[in-house]
Amino acid sequence: MDLKGRDFLKLLDFTPEEINYLLDLAAQLKDKKKKGIPVDTLKGKNVVLIFEKTSTRTRCAFEVAAHDLGMGTTYLDPAGSQIGKKESIADTARVLSGMFDGIEYRGFGQDIVEELARYSSVPVWNGLTNEFHPTQMLADLLTIREQFGYLKGIRLTYMGDARYNMGNSLMVACAKMGMHFTACTTEKYFPDRALVEQCREIAAQTGGSIVLTPDIREGTGNVDVVYTDVWVSMGEPDEVWAERIRELSPYQVTEEVMRNAGEKAIFMHCLPAFHDLKTKIGAQMGERFGIREMEVTDRVFESAQSRVFEEAENRMHTIKAVMAATL
Ligand code: CP
Ligand code: NVA
Repeated sequence: MDLKGRDFLKLLDFTPEEINYLLDLAAQLKDKKKKGIPVDTLKGKNVVLIFEKTSTRTRCAFEVAAHDLGMGTTYLDPAGSQIGKKESIADTARVLSGMFDGIEYRGFGQDIVEELARYSSVPVWNGLTNEFHPTQMLADLLTIREQFGYLKGIRLTYMGDARYNMGNSLMVACAKMGMHFTACTTEKYFPDRALVEQCREIAAQTGGSIVLTPDIREGTGNVDVVYTDVWVSMGEPDEVWAERIRELSPYQVTEEVMRNAGEKAIFMHCLPAFHDLKTKIGAQMGERFGIREMEVTDRVFESAQSRVFEEAENRMHTIKAVMAATL
């Protein structure tokens, strides 16, 4: 398998074999890291990390992974560069290609990262756009594989706003890997119809399936993974909170949902999560709407079924695999 020079923009661009290769490589790199065996095969290279939206996990994962591989990093924060304001994406891509061996981009439309990749002569990695979050997918697939030992046939239900980066990406990831994906939410929050059709075609080849249902008992009954994400994503206006809380509250991941899923089911979340009032936004919403938690209850988040911190750690091992494979 040779992925050298490839961009990593969305899972739709990769075959199941290529995705498995990246997962196997991530597992090997994780094992070596745990054993203290250094893998600094990319010494002397440099990567740039462009963040037009904030981040904890993705930025830290790229920085630690690059450092472990022997590379230098330059972080461009949401305000600290000329991108988009004084310099076009096409010009930025050509400037950065002359100095760096790889470019990570987190920002708004998928079209921006695709354009960056078109004009860049070095690999571009998508660190999250409105539409897709592919590095998160590798971490999630690795976490599921570690838990169950396989991916094909796993039943994953996503609750909440399934129209955004996480719902879209999980649907694609499941279709690619022959898994059964369910979006369990109200119709308004179902993923884009064209993407659903595309994923159904992929699933027909891999043995997976795509189901969209507003019915919670049916949608979460006897599944392996219950997954959720914040109800309002980065870049969305504050005004949507009231509507989201009203419309998505029935789809909160509760202990009842997890009981319906079954004892062996795990809970996953890309994080950050609103499971208590210990964040600024969580506390504000608590005051405005009289709620203590949002997309997931604190009891589920802290339960033995929760795999959220293993998942977060796997961001680093899988991002390392992406850089090691493509550089
Ligand atoms: N899950 C995730 O992408 O987290 P950050 O926003 O902290 O990078
Ligand atoms: N849907 C969330 C994912 C964060 C990792 C967002 O875009 O803010």
